[in-house]
Amino acid sequence: MKFYITTPIYYVNASPHIGHCYTTIAADCLARYHKMTGKDVYFLTGTDEHGDKIALAAEKKGISVEQFTDEMSAMFKKMWEKLDISYSRFIRTTENQHIKTVQTVFKKLMDNNDIYLGTYSGYYCTPCEFFIPRIKIDENNPVCPDCGRPVKIIKENSYFFRLSNYEKLLLEYLKKNPQVIQPQFRLEEVTNFISQGLNDLSITRHGTVWGIQSPTPEKYSVYVWFDALLNYLTAAGYDGKNVNHYWPPDVQLIGKDILRFHAIIWPAMLMALGLELPKMIFAHGWWTLGSEKISKSKGNIIDPLYIIERFGVDGFRYFLLREVPFGLDGEYSEEKFIKRFNSDLANDLGNLVNRTLNLVEKLFENTVPDVFVSSEMEHLMEEVLINVDNFISRINFSEALVEIWKLVTELNKILDIKKPWNSPIESARETLSQCMSGIYLISLLIYPFIPGTSRKIQAMLNIEFKENEITLTKKNISLISGRKVGKREILFKRIKT
Ligand code: MSP
Repeated sequence: MKFYITTPIYYVNASPHIGHCYTTIAADCLARYHKMTGKDVYFLTGTDEHGDKIALAAEKKGISVEQFTDEMSAMFKKMWEKLDISYSRFIRTTENQHIKTVQTVFKKLMDNNDIYLGTYSGYYCTPCEFFIPRIKIDENNPVCPDCGRPVKIIKENSYFFRLSNYEKLLLEYLKKNPQVIQPQFRLEEVTNFISQGLNDLSITRHGTVWGIQSPTPEKYSVYVWFDALLNYLTAAGYDGKNVNHYWPPDVQLIGKDILRFHAIIWPAMLMALGLELPKMIFAHGWWTLGSEKISKSKGNIIDPLYIIERFGVDGFRYFLLREVPFGLDGEYSEEKFIKRFNSDLANDLGNLVNRTLNLVEKLFENTVPDVFVSSEMEHLMEEVLINVDNFISRINFSEALVEIWKLVTELNKILDIKKPWNSPIESARETLSQCMSGIYLISLLIYPFIPGTSRKIQAMLNIEFKENEITLTKKNISLISGRKVGKREILFKRIKT
C-alpha cells in the first residue's frame, strides 16, 4: 500500500523557523510510522521560490535572485538534515520539471475554458501573496484583513481561473467527504467561506518578473499560489494526463493560515484537471509567543539551531509533537520545554533504560535474560499498539505519545515494586527480561517521533534495525532474548533550572 504525504513548500525569503520545523517534523513522524507498518511512502517537501517578496529579499541582500534562492533553499535542506527528516523528494519551484508542469496545467485549463482573460482591479497583499477584493478593505486604511500589513492597489489585465464554477461542486464534495478537512472543526470555516460565494481567481501578474512565464501571447508571470500548489502534482510526475501511483496525496499537512488555498483553490484546480482530490488536508495550529504567531514579520522568531543546541534534535521533536494537540495553537516557553524534557525524557524514559541496562550488566553479565512477558504486560503492549495506530491515523501525535509513555510508566513501576537489585535471582530475571522486552518495543514505537533516541536504544540492545523491514507488532520482542547488551550511554541529561 502507498502513502503520499506532503508539507507546504516554504518561502525562501527568510531562514527556517519553529513553524516550518513543526510541519516538517510532523510529516516526518507520519512518514516514518507508515514506513514501519510496511507502506510504500512518498514524503514530499520543498521550497516556494517565486514572487515579489523573494525578489525583494534578494535585492536587499545585494545578490542575484538565482543565487539567493539557491542559498536559501540549501539552508532548508540543511535544517532538515539536522532534524533527521526522511523526505523522499525536495522540490523547488524553480526546477525545470515544475515550470513545465505549471505551464502544461495552465494551457490545459485554458483549452478547457477554465481560464480566461479579464481585468483585475483590487488590492494585493505581497507578504500573503493574496488578492483581496475591494469590499474587504477599508479605503481609508488599506491593510490586509489577514496579516494587517499595507496592501497595494492593482488594476491590470490578468488571466482568471474560473473558481466560481466550482462553488457548488466543492460544497457537494465536502458534504459527501467531510473527513477530508481535518481537524473537523475547520470544515465549517471552509464551507461557510465557499457558501458566501467564490470569485474567479486572478492567476497572472503583470509586473512580477520573478515567476513562471504564463504560456499566453502576453508575457505575464503565473501567480505564486497557482504555481506553488502545483508542486504536489509535479512531484507525482504529472504530464498533462497521467500521475504516478502515489497519487492522490493521503495526507497534506498545512498550517491553519493557508487552509483556504488548500481546501478551496487547490481542490477546484484538481477538479478542473479531472484528477482525484487529496484524501486528507490537515491544518495544524500556530506556535505563539505571548499569544502572537511566531513569524519573521513579527520579529519574534526562535532560532531552531538554538533549541537544538539546548535540547538536542530529539528534545525538540518530542516537545513539538507532545506539548499540544496538533490542530490547536501552542504557546512556546522555555520553562515548558525544560519541564517536558526533564520529566518525560530524562526522568521517565532515560531512567528506565539506564536502570534496566545497569541491572542487566550487574546481574546477568550484560546478557538479556530469556524473554518473559506477563499476561498483564502483554495486554498492555497490545493495547498501546492499537491505540498508537488509532491516534496516528487521526494525526494526534500527543495522544500517541501519551500511549507510549503508559508503557514507560508501567515498566518503571514494575522496577520500583519488584526491586530486582534486591530480590532472588529468578525474580530479578523475570523482572528484567520483562523490562528489556518493553524497552525494545518502546524503541520501535518512539522511532517515528524521536528516531535518534530509538537508534541509540537499539544500539544499546545490540540490534540492527531497518525501518522498512520492521512492522510494529509485539512479536518483535522475542528478537532480543539472549543478546549481549551493547555499550551504555546516557540518553538525556537533566537540564538544571
Ligand atoms: N509558500 C507558502 C506555502 C505554499 S504550499 C503550496 C507558505 N510558506 S510559509 O513559509 O510562509 O509557511 C509555511 C508553513 O509554515 C505554513 O503552513 C504555516 O502555517 C507554517 N508556519 C509559519 N509560522 C508558524 C507558526 N508560528 N506556527 C506553526 N506553523 C506556522 O505559506
